[in-house]
Amino acid sequence: MVHKVKGAVVLSKNAPVTLETILVPEPGPGEALVDIITSGVCHTDLHYKQGGISDDFPFLLGHEATGVVSAVGPDVTNVVPGDRVVLNWRAVCGECRACAKGQPQYCFNTHNATQKMTLEDGTELTAALGIGAFIEKTLVAAGQCTKVDPDADAAAVGLLGCGVMAGLGAAINTGNIKRGDSVAVIGCGGVGVSAVAGAALAGATTIIAVDIDTKKLERAKHLGASHTIDSSTTDPVEAIRELTGGFGADVVIDAVGRPETYKQAFYARDLAGTVVLVGVPTPEMTLELPLLDVFGRGGSLKSSWYGDCLPSRDFPMLVDLYQKGKLDLDAFVTERITIDQVEEAFEKMHAGTVLRSVVEL
Ligand SMILES: NC(=O)c1ccc[n+]([C@@H]2O[C@H](COP(=O)([O-])OP(=O)(O)OC[C@H]3O[C@@H](n4cnc5c(N)ncnc54)[C@H](O)[C@@H]3O)[C@@H](O)[C@H]2O)c1
Ligand SMILES: [Zn+2]
Ligand SMILES: [Zn+2]
Repeated sequence: MVHKVKGAVVLSKNAPVTLETILVPEPGPGEALVDIITSGVCHTDLHYKQGGISDDFPFLLGHEATGVVSAVGPDVTNVVPGDRVVLNWRAVCGECRACAKGQPQYCFNTHNATQKMTLEDGTELTAALGIGAFIEKTLVAAGQCTKVDPDADAAAVGLLGCGVMAGLGAAINTGNIKRGDSVAVIGCGGVGVSAVAGAALAGATTIIAVDIDTKKLERAKHLGASHTIDSSTTDPVEAIRELTGGFGADVVIDAVGRPETYKQAFYARDLAGTVVLVGVPTPEMTLELPLLDVFGRGGSLKSSWYGDCLPSRDFPMLVDLYQKGKLDLDAFVTERITIDQVEEAFEKMHAGTVLRSVVEL
């Protein structure tokens, strides 16, 4: 049986998001069919629309989602119909050299559903990040489903599926922040403030939020920043050093991903400290640093893919912390919208007025 449902699609580069009838197949081996409850609107969805990720139009957008498994194909053992799940875009293979080394968070061969969802005329859709969640029902690899407590608010916990996890994980997993550490986060959009929240959760005592937009700095304070720096008017390297006894922070997270912010992170870090790059640069960007400084300052320069998360380990733990009031995921849900308002949500995102608009299906 094929399911006929409405989904939010971009048919060609920069075309407005339109609601189309989509055909969703029954799950095959290793696949799961998920009834979506909520899905956040992320910058990556906008990048797809603008052709910034690939030219494989049409795209079915949406990927920060909570849903309920409605059917599973053969050989699926991790979820059963009725399970409340948060979807992830890195279903690990268990077999590649990273997985074989016991480091599945770096899996080099993550996978998605094998079958394609299509338009009514049979045109195959590319699902955003292999998910496609602005739709009532979507088809994913079963490994993209992580079971969570059904009592947790779907809109809030679904955000763990992308940007919030990337930021939290950049702090907790990649940065390996410890109690008492000093931390600076450059760029306090959704990912950066999540890194601020992650630093607070890990017990960092000095948490310095840096942005060029003062609205973002206010939100960062609410999520745990002890100090804020407006880097449009203040040199962030000097200011971070001043706030850390003249030395620099133990961990500096670059949640912008530009050569100038990376250099700030590099020099605002204490000797033997850690830089975490979680912002994603564009292909033309290059970085020049004195190699002697790279050597002389020591420590580690790391990149964070999806917060180096392991959904099966991290999602239930973070949902638990949310339910215990230790992680304010509600603060990320600025508004709840309907599926025909995705285009407006992109405009608000562009204006910087929302942290997350969440589509309720
Ligand atoms: N590594 C991953 O797995 C992963 C996952 C999701 C997103 N990302 C990336 O993380 C980055 C941030 O995403 P987001 O959703 O928070 O974006 P966003 O646009 O909401 O936030 C970016 C923030 O950086 C600030 N900013 C811009 N230029 C700055 C500068 N020179 N100095 C200081 N602040 C500056 C902006 O004011 C804004 O607050 C993006 O590059 C995104 O692609 C990475
Ligand atoms: Zn693997
Ligand atoms: Zn995303």
